[in-house]
Amino acid sequence: MFLETRQVVKSFQGFKAVDALSVSVTEGEILGLIGPNGAGKSTFFSCLTGDLQPTSGEILFDGKVITHLAPEHRARLGLARSFQVPLTFEHMTVLENVMVGAFLHTRDVRAARAKAQQVVDQVGLAAMADTPARGLGTPNRKRLEIARALATNPRILLLDEAMAGLTPTEVKSAIELVRALHAQGITLIIVEHVMEVIMSLTHRVVVMHQGRQIAMGTPHEVVNDPQVVSAYLGKRAARAAAGAS
Ligand SMILES: Nc1ncnc2c1ncn2[C@@H]1O[C@H](COP(=O)(O)OP(=O)(O)OP(=O)(O)O)[C@@H](O)[C@H]1O
Ligand SMILES: [Mg+2]
Repeated sequence: MFLETRQVVKSFQGFKAVDALSVSVTEGEILGLIGPNGAGKSTFFSCLTGDLQPTSGEILFDGKVITHLAPEHRARLGLARSFQVPLTFEHMTVLENVMVGAFLHTRDVRAARAKAQQVVDQVGLAAMADTPARGLGTPNRKRLEIARALATNPRILLLDEAMAGLTPTEVKSAIELVRALHAQGITLIIVEHVMEVIMSLTHRVVVMHQGRQIAMGTPHEVVNDPQVVSAYLGKRAARAAAGAS
């Protein structure tokens, strides 16, 4: 298994935000992770990347136990995420923000700049490369967040609501970007409330509710699962999603 969690728990003062979650991802897969607000999706991502230490349980990546590795060490192994609330250096330009990611693998400024330029081009931010980040609107901030993660050369990329707040046209181009990343060999886990994105991109979906996994299957299977409909989707949204796939 490429990435695997075993009974991962994350408690905050006794409250289990993630409750015994065992999830595995195969190399080359696009896994969807869905569930209502507060289900524990972002907390689970933080446990995977080391931004939070799990309370208990084990995490394995590419055959190695990484449960207690520092975030930077995990990033070097090829784990990267985009944050739901972007971590942007507002006074720095787009290119400079992305260079921060590239410095994970090099200390050479020219090499970092070249890498950053390449991913800035790929995510469609070339025209904004020299714009200070504070001048960006939501869609470009989302792109910048993905670019920063891509600059670390991930083998697996965790996208946390990377398409929230985008117009339907912007969502379409973001879907194309994810397809391109997948085609270049990156494994992905996608957290997204936009069901159209989940239905069209993912191979398999894990559904979380109150920290636990309540369903797992193909996108079609989960939107037709009565537990998923009642805990998260609601009947109308489930029918719409099933129709869109
Ligand atoms: N640092 C923290 N301290 C205390 N409680 C927290 C902390 N981080 C998250 N929580 C709680 O853990 C639960 C899961 O939160 P999380 O942000 O992981 O949910 P989510 O599934 O990502 O939700 P959303 O779809 O709204 O982004 C929530 O009840 C949240 O309030
Ligand atoms: Mg979240």
